[in-house]
Amino acid sequence: MLVSSRSLGEYRRMFGLTDADLSGTILDCPGGCAGFAAEATEFGARVVAVDPEYATDTATMREQGLRTLQRGMAYHLEHPDEYVWTYFTDVEQYQAERTQALERFAADRAAHPERYVTALLPDLPFQDREFDLALTSHLLFSYLDRLDEDFHLAAIVELTRVARQARIFPLAPMGSQSYDGLPKFLERLAAAGIDAEVKAVDYEFQRGCNEMLVVSQG
Ligand SMILES: C[S@@+](CC[C@H](N)C(=O)[O-])C[C@H]1O[C@@H](n2cnc3c(N)ncnc32)[C@H](O)[C@@H]1O
Repeated sequence: MLVSSRSLGEYRRMFGLTDADLSGTILDCPGGCAGFAAEATEFGARVVAVDPEYATDTATMREQGLRTLQRGMAYHLEHPDEYVWTYFTDVEQYQAERTQALERFAADRAAHPERYVTALLPDLPFQDREFDLALTSHLLFSYLDRLDEDFHLAAIVELTRVARQARIFPLAPMGSQSYDGLPKFLERLAAAGIDAEVKAVDYEFQRGCNEMLVVSQG
């Protein structure tokens, strides 16, 4: 799985985050090598990032993040039509922003290791409603080839146990523009007592993916 390094700028757009959202307690799951926790903390948010890869040291994660960036760059150059070049104007800007976010992550994790917790969905080591908001970027729906719908359901039940609201982006597998199974999956969420709403966001990089799923326990 890719260990990517999105920035606060991308998170703001992917999840429609307001300054009020950023003043609360936020779970970033998975955090990967994202700069979000480091950058959002400067805005007054209290952020905890979770990822199974946090079992490895920061230098190794930084190497993983750099390798992921190189793979991403090569893929974008080979498949430019799968992406919308508005947030990033070109591959160079993509590389610069993601590299900066990666370096912010590495410096912050070295200075504040307590902010980065080793754990994995669907079992999180947190109390009920410990967070105002949970953010899930590029794990659920992105890897439907290896994470089945039962996993998705269990993960969303867990995210909405530990946070009053969770937001998930994107809603289609990598390389796809949509997920045909989404309407049926939303029915499964409703049957499990999860309120779910698909909302448009002002961010589209993977072509066709400009919606997030907002979920909470009813
Ligand atoms: C593509 S990265 C996304 C990182 C970050 N959210 C971002 O957008 O830049 C996917 C991450 O999911 C993590 N991951 C894999 N399985 C997981 C699980 N069961 N629970 C939580 N994180 C998981 C991987 O280690 C990887 O860092």
